[in-house]
Amino acid sequence: MKKKIVAGNWKMNKNLDEGIKLTSEIATLIKDAPVNGVEIIIVPPFTHLTDLNKLLQDNDQIRLGAQNCNENNSGAYTGEISAAMLKSSGVDYVVIGHSERRTYYNESDELLATKVNQALINGLTPIYCCGEPLSVRESNSHEDYVFTQISNGLFHLSQESFGNVVIAYEPIWAIGTGVTASAAQAQEMHKAIRNHLASKFGHDAAGNSSILYGGSCKPSNAKELFALADVDGGLIGGASLNPEDFVDIIRSF
Ligand code: PGA
Repeated sequence: MKKKIVAGNWKMNKNLDEGIKLTSEIATLIKDAPVNGVEIIIVPPFTHLTDLNKLLQDNDQIRLGAQNCNENNSGAYTGEISAAMLKSSGVDYVVIGHSERRTYYNESDELLATKVNQALINGLTPIYCCGEPLSVRESNSHEDYVFTQISNGLFHLSQESFGNVVIAYEPIWAIGTGVTASAAQAQEMHKAIRNHLASKFGHDAAGNSSILYGGSCKPSNAKELFALADVDGGLIGGASLNPEDFVDIIRSF
């Protein structure tokens, strides 16, 4: 079923002590004034997952996500982390195909489709990222560009498996730039994505899927974005590194 979700993607920031402090501060702010009906996900670096899982043991509102997983089940892949390892470390979600991974590590849609499979086989919910660069937006071909990312990465799934996938639409020109998609741009794109999903998985499945917005989402614009009919939450980068800002964003629902 469609969930409201706010996920904080720390990227390659915070050492372990800082990560424990940030998580504790977020947990305290939420405990002092509970937020109902929002799934809160913290997405720290791999090295922090086990400690944060222990820290959050008695917390039933904050879940853990990872920023990536390998496309293979196990084996001789030095330096890599499998979905099964993440699951065994208390992780529930995994971000797949963030634009930074697509750009800096050449991750293709085809590779990402296999990562999505690994996540699902191991009981993790993939947060599948899509989004266009500025040049594509300027040439007005952003819908086709994003539809292709979604078709290639997800359309091999059964309707049942698709029910366990979360989508994050993150226009690359809005990531870390301070420029946010306008409410009209976000709603238009999220609705188009939902229609595209419906063409493959049917209206009910598309209507039940959570589509998050990402790209310079902050306390000052989260309310307007989360009020949009087809925006079901956010994938937050920079603002998730500050506990007050992250919790303010969560409270924007
Ligand atoms: P940002 O990052 O909020 O810093 O723009 C979003 C993301 O990359 O997920």
